[in-house]
Amino acid sequence: MKTPHTLAIHGGKPVRTKKFGAGPKHHLGEWLALKPMFERGSIPMTRGPEVMALREKFKKLFGMKHAVTASSGTAALHTATAALGIGRGDEVITSPITDMGTLTAILAQNAVPIFADVDPATTMITPETIAPKISRRTRAILVVHLAGLAADMDGIMRLARRHKLAVIEDVAQSYMTEHRGRLIGTIGDVGCWSLNESKHIGAGDGGILMTNDAEVAWRAELFADKCYDRDGRGVKPHFAAMNYRLNALVAAVSLEQLKKVKRLCRRRRLLGSYLDRELSRLPGIRVRPVGRGDYATYWYYIFHMDPERLNCTVEEFAKAVQAEGVWCSPLNQNVMEWPLFKDHPDDRHACAANCPLYRGPKPDYDTRHYPGVIEANARSLRAGMSEYHTMADMRDFVKAVAKVARHAAQGGTLRA
Ligand SMILES: Cc1ncc(COP(=O)(O)O)c(C=O)c1O
Repeated sequence: MKTPHTLAIHGGKPVRTKKFGAGPKHHLGEWLALKPMFERGSIPMTRGPEVMALREKFKKLFGMKHAVTASSGTAALHTATAALGIGRGDEVITSPITDMGTLTAILAQNAVPIFADVDPATTMITPETIAPKISRRTRAILVVHLAGLAADMDGIMRLARRHKLAVIEDVAQSYMTEHRGRLIGTIGDVGCWSLNESKHIGAGDGGILMTNDAEVAWRAELFADKCYDRDGRGVKPHFAAMNYRLNALVAAVSLEQLKKVKRLCRRRRLLGSYLDRELSRLPGIRVRPVGRGDYATYWYYIFHMDPERLNCTVEEFAKAVQAEGVWCSPLNQNVMEWPLFKDHPDDRHACAANCPLYRGPKPDYDTRHYPGVIEANARSLRAGMSEYHTMADMRDFVKAVAKVARHAAQGGTLRA
């Protein structure tokens, strides 16, 4: 007999039949912001007024001294590793739960990514998992703040300073996130943001890095612009560099996007912290811990289920929740399972594993040695997040997860 508790995968009534609130990322004000360039009759190629205004606004918002724009988040990260002098044979410690852009920044400098395990609760690297990976060859730690939560920057900075390592913060997914009252991206030596369309704010593609170190900023400026010194000392490149310049059209749109960043991050925080509070009360469900004094801005939403308590896999759990009419899916993120690290450690383009100039042992890209990554992927789910979602949407999301979790916690099957 069917009851209101009968799961939709077993023919019951789904919790939700309507889509969650959604809306446009862009508005006509952004289109109007392009007008001056067409009135002037030219789109500036390098550091025109739009690009410089964007840099100023970012600096002011984050309280940083120097900003260098780039054509993508990946380009900003690569510019950061290059500007810090990271090169062939150097090791950079980072997270195996991240985007390719993080890794490109290391590999494109012919440096070697060394993975630290993640804390399955936060899905991020920690001072404890980083410490055993530090070697004589380590030059930097590239911290990924995943999906709007801050990694333990205080602990990571203490460790890095003790070992004289540079720290790069990958803030692509975590605009306006704070760690103990400080904006992330401003704590390490360089912070890198993405302006790709999927991020909190975006303009198709774009990126920016910020630092308080004038020397690093100057090298970043040169690296992102073919090593052309446009400040009067002449166009005589003295190192190999990219053209990672940000297009002025993108800068003009980004300037408009930046106006709403605080508001939409506040909104995402409201919705995300509601989910944290409500989901943490459910049997077999855990949420990612937000540290004391931290401020999370939930790019997408990650939460965990307990496969032992609920007697099901993360895939089965996600399927049952989806049938209730709300979306979530297994997190399923581990770069070590990508062919790049698994099947082709001898990729000729990047010398990660077997460059003759690399003096270290073969890097460990075997997932079996990373229990935190295994646990995170066995338990973690991701759900969408948008400033357009309503509180009613969030309540239905909780209802759907609660219905499935209670059913499973009482010994019910999730098999259809
Ligand atoms: C954590 C992280 N790092 C880096 C990037 C790269 O940014 P972009 O796509 O702008 O190159 C992304 C984008 O998806 C990201 O999520």
